[in-house]
Parts: sequence; structure tokens; C-alpha cells
Amino acid sequence: MTSRFNLPYSEVTPELAYLNRRAVMAGMAGAGLLAASGVQAQDMPKFEIKGFDTTETPNTFEEITNYNNFYEFGTGKDDPARYAGSLTTDPWSVEIDGMVERPGSYGLGDILSKVDIDERIYRFRCVEAWSMVIPWNGFELNQLLDLAGVEPSAKYVRFETLYRPEEMPGQRRPILDWPYVEGLRLDEAMHPLTIMATGLYGQELPNQNGAPLRLVVPWKYGFKSIKSVVKITLTGEQPVNTWKAANHREYGFYSNVNPEVSHPRWSQATERRIGGGVFASRMATVKFNGYEEQVGALYKGMDLSKEY
Ligand code: MTE
Repeated sequence: MTSRFNLPYSEVTPELAYLNRRAVMAGMAGAGLLAASGVQAQDMPKFEIKGFDTTETPNTFEEITNYNNFYEFGTGKDDPARYAGSLTTDPWSVEIDGMVERPGSYGLGDILSKVDIDERIYRFRCVEAWSMVIPWNGFELNQLLDLAGVEPSAKYVRFETLYRPEEMPGQRRPILDWPYVEGLRLDEAMHPLTIMATGLYGQELPNQNGAPLRLVVPWKYGFKSIKSVVKITLTGEQPVNTWKAANHREYGFYSNVNPEVSHPRWSQATERRIGGGVFASRMATVKFNGYEEQVGALYKGMDLSKEY
């Protein structure tokens, strides 16, 4: 990823430059992209979604907690593991405001006593074209929104990460416009696949993964899954998310995983599964990251190459 301030980027860009050139030459057609990216039929990922869980083998705890994007702690993949330990996550509360019947500050302990925590083994696909399988623990966001009581006029949900530059060294630099902001349409936010994660592998969420409470939206690129959330606002207007504000040509509001729509600088037709080793073949990326059956109807009639 790159910001408008042009600071260090994803390590993945150079690795994908070659693919991208070929994909551009082959045109934007999905089949053309697949062929151009060298994906063979055997590279199609083999998985089912059973209930909420993918049948694929999860990444290890070490992989999930040592290869992260959390620019509040630096732009390197190992910066969050190195520096996020300094973040104070207790006490923690979430301000819920805007078009809700019961606005206010919701303490984390209070929230956790009123929601149902379960495990969700989700596929996770970053816009940088790497992916993992993560066994999250968390609760459906709709449960939290119901606690606050969404008013009928609300159409979108806006999320904000903690702003605390004393503890988040990246926020002392103009890497992005702080605090990090994300947004969902209300129906996306209410969808049962959309969770607030509080842990992984049955353990408390490590700071580098967005402790103590982070959004997870498995059919969208990973940057939608905003970490360390302190504010949730119900609104009538589409929120301006941080990456779209940084570079609207490259990052949109919807950001649904889509192998047919290239990033301007690389193809999205394939992905590298973290932990697969350098010689592992790339996997084909699947529309909506494999959750089309569950969420495809949300986007009926939309042109997803324009609303990217
Ligand atoms: N949330 C905040 N506040 N800051 C960030 O830099 N990075 C996003 C997302 N949420 C980010 C964030 C990106 S680009 C990705 S891919 C995922 O977090 C990474 O989540 P993980 O480190 O738990 O795999």
C-alpha cells in the first residue's frame, strides 16, 4: 500500500510488478487475468465454508501475530509485533453515537457481558495480495449495534481507531491521516459474518492484531478490518475511509475482494498464502474471498468495477 505521503510501501508491490504487467497486457477480463497470472486449475483453493468456518488449515499463531499491518506502530510487517506491546488496552471503552437510541460510552467489560463470543475460522485477504486463515474469537457486530439501538434513518457505520500518539509511534508521523477511519454500509455491518474480534486461537487478542476490539469483515480486503476501535458512529452519509482518502484511485469504500478488478499497480487475480514458503505456487483469489453465497446479494445491481 502507499499513502499520499509516499512513505514506505508494501513489500509485495515489486514481487507483483511482473504479474501486473502481464495482467495489464492481457486486458481486464477475469479469465484473461487468470491465464496471464499463470494460475492453473490446480491452484484454485480447495475449501468449503461450513457454517461460518472455512475448511482450510489456519495459519499458525506465530504467523498471524508476526506479519501485520498496523501503521500506528510503523509500516514494516514486523513493526506491530515489536512496538504494539506499549499500547494500554485496559481500561477500554467504545463511544457509540450518531443515529442511535442509546448513545454513550460503552465499557468493554459491559459489552462483553452482553454479547455471545464464538470462534470463526475466516479467510483473510489483504489488498496487497497476501492471505491467511485466522481462527478469530469474537461476536457479531449486529449485537453491539442492537445494544445501542440503530435508528431507522441510519445508513452507514463509521469506525475510528484510538488516537494516542504517546503510545502509537506511527501516529507521530504523517503516514496517514490519523485516526484511522473505516466504514460499512448498514446492511454489511449487520451481516452475521461481520464480527468484532476479541481474540484469536482462544487467547486474548494480541495488541498487534488490534486489541482489545477490532472489526473483521472476511469478504473485504483486510484494510476494512479496522483495529483497536474506540468510536462507532451511525450516520446517513457514506464515511470517508482512511485509505480512500489517502488514494481514492487505488482504494475505494466497498473494497470487496475481487479477482476481476486489478489494483492500478498489481493484479488481484492471485494471492500468496503466508506460511506457504517462497516456492509455493500462488493461489487463485476468489470473488468475495469465497463468501459470495453469503454476501453476493448485498451488491445486486451494482457495478463492482466502478464501486470498488
Ligand atoms: N487498522 C488500523 N487502525 N491501522 C492499520 O494500519 N491495517 C489494515 C487493517 N486494520 C490497519 C488496520 C490492514 S492494511 C490489514 S491487511 C489488516 O488490518 C491486518 O490485520 P492483521 O495484522 O491482524 O493481519
